[in-house]
Amino acid sequence: MRSKAMPPTTFELFADEDRQPARTEQIGEQSFVLRGFALPWVEQLLPLLEKILRAAPFRQMVTPGGFTMSVGLSSCGTLGWTTDRSGYRYTRIDPVSGQPWPEMPEVFREMAQAAAREAGFHHFEPDACLINRYLPGAKMSLHQDKDERSYDPPIVSVSLGLPAMFLFGGFKRNDTSQRVSLFHGDIVVWGGVDRLRYHGVLPLKDGHHPRLGGQRINFTFRTAG
Ligand code: SIN
Ligand code: FE2
Repeated sequence: MRSKAMPPTTFELFADEDRQPARTEQIGEQSFVLRGFALPWVEQLLPLLEKILRAAPFRQMVTPGGFTMSVGLSSCGTLGWTTDRSGYRYTRIDPVSGQPWPEMPEVFREMAQAAAREAGFHHFEPDACLINRYLPGAKMSLHQDKDERSYDPPIVSVSLGLPAMFLFGGFKRNDTSQRVSLFHGDIVVWGGVDRLRYHGVLPLKDGHHPRLGGQRINFTFRTAG
């Protein structure tokens, strides 16, 4: 907590304990970690997220290979990502509810566009926001995001809640990966020449986050259609 006697500084803007001034770290030619970039939006996002999850609750999906994903998945936007025994795809209808995916709230879009712009990608128009929930032990194996129609738009990936170790690899699965710790409020943007880089998340460690409890939530914005 800031003491009353302290002279006012820029840090007053970030008085909240887990707020830091945003910093940008470059992890590839066109890939960036925007530290704390989502923090100014978080309090608006969380109630909207709850509403989305009431309509489209997290579910554990099965991959074409028959494995049940450890991560719980949902989506909002015109298109949502699903997988089952017949393959990965984007759909307009949530196969669980039989209804269209919940709309992408305007503030989600604004935040994703602002992050994309910060990373040099102007005119980003996301039509899909995947929502991943990691409980302790959940992970995401190395993969490329390649179910989208065009690879011109970037991927914008927002981390909330417990910290995670993100793996950012190369263009082949066996290329060495950088390990990047991601914290509440961080946004990773990759696109352009880096758009098809392999990436994944190591098993989530147990912990308690003051705002989100024992979980990590990830939003991944894409232009899918
Ligand atoms: C993903 O690649 O879909 C998720 C990445 C993350 O959870 O940070
Ligand atoms: Fe991904």
